[in-house]
Amino acid sequence: MSNPLRHLAIIMDGNGRWAKERGLRRTKGHEAGVESVRRITEYCAEDPEIETLTLYAFSTENWKRPKMEVDYLMHLLEKFVRLERDRYMEHGIRFEAIGDLSPFTPRLRDTLEETRELTKENRNLTQILALNYGGRDEIVRAVQRMLDAGEEPSEEALGRHLDTPYTDVDLLIRTSGEQRLSNFLLWQLSYTELAFTQTYWPDFTVEELRTIIDDFKERHRKFGGI
Ligand code: FPP
Repeated sequence: MSNPLRHLAIIMDGNGRWAKERGLRRTKGHEAGVESVRRITEYCAEDPEIETLTLYAFSTENWKRPKMEVDYLMHLLEKFVRLERDRYMEHGIRFEAIGDLSPFTPRLRDTLEETRELTKENRNLTQILALNYGGRDEIVRAVQRMLDAGEEPSEEALGRHLDTPYTDVDLLIRTSGEQRLSNFLLWQLSYTELAFTQTYWPDFTVEELRTIIDDFKERHRKFGGI
């Protein structure tokens, strides 16, 4: 029996190096990265088994980048989410954002909220963008909500107070050769299978994704058992 793949998460890494190797500005790498987001999301929407795709788009640490790059990423994000609405509707994709959205401009927050509202009945796939996201930050905010609700601490209660209804991730992929979690989905990754590829995110294809999924399906998942 092969492993079901319901929740796939990706750390999209290597945009900067992809651009540098081509003698381009880093921003060109992010632009090319957007095409990969589209390609991989639409592929996942067509796969009847995959329910959720969570993408690490901006971490709580990414503010340390030069202001020009941060501004560009914000601009790209706002443009992407706005332009993507037709595709979300066409492919039955529900859009969600996780992370602490409070530092974003009202305009970006409105765009995210309007897109979430517009797509909320779509059922082929939920695409979750992690924005100003940190796994530790999410857990701290969830603990605060749990305490505010006067609930006894438990895994179940804390899971309910995370940014999205808690679903374990089945498979995490990180592109570009780095092999670390970088504060992504720390709670949800407890029993996740990990896959690392040398490929830079802008070069990541659906064929490579398929190969990684096929390998994942044959793995022996034990969840602490034997
Ligand atoms: C990592 O590459 C990528 C990011 C920090 C941001 C991810 C953003 C995108 C894929 C494009 C925008 C996405 C959306 C949804 C609009 P890096 O810059 O860390 O690359 P490097 O490690 O080679 O420098």
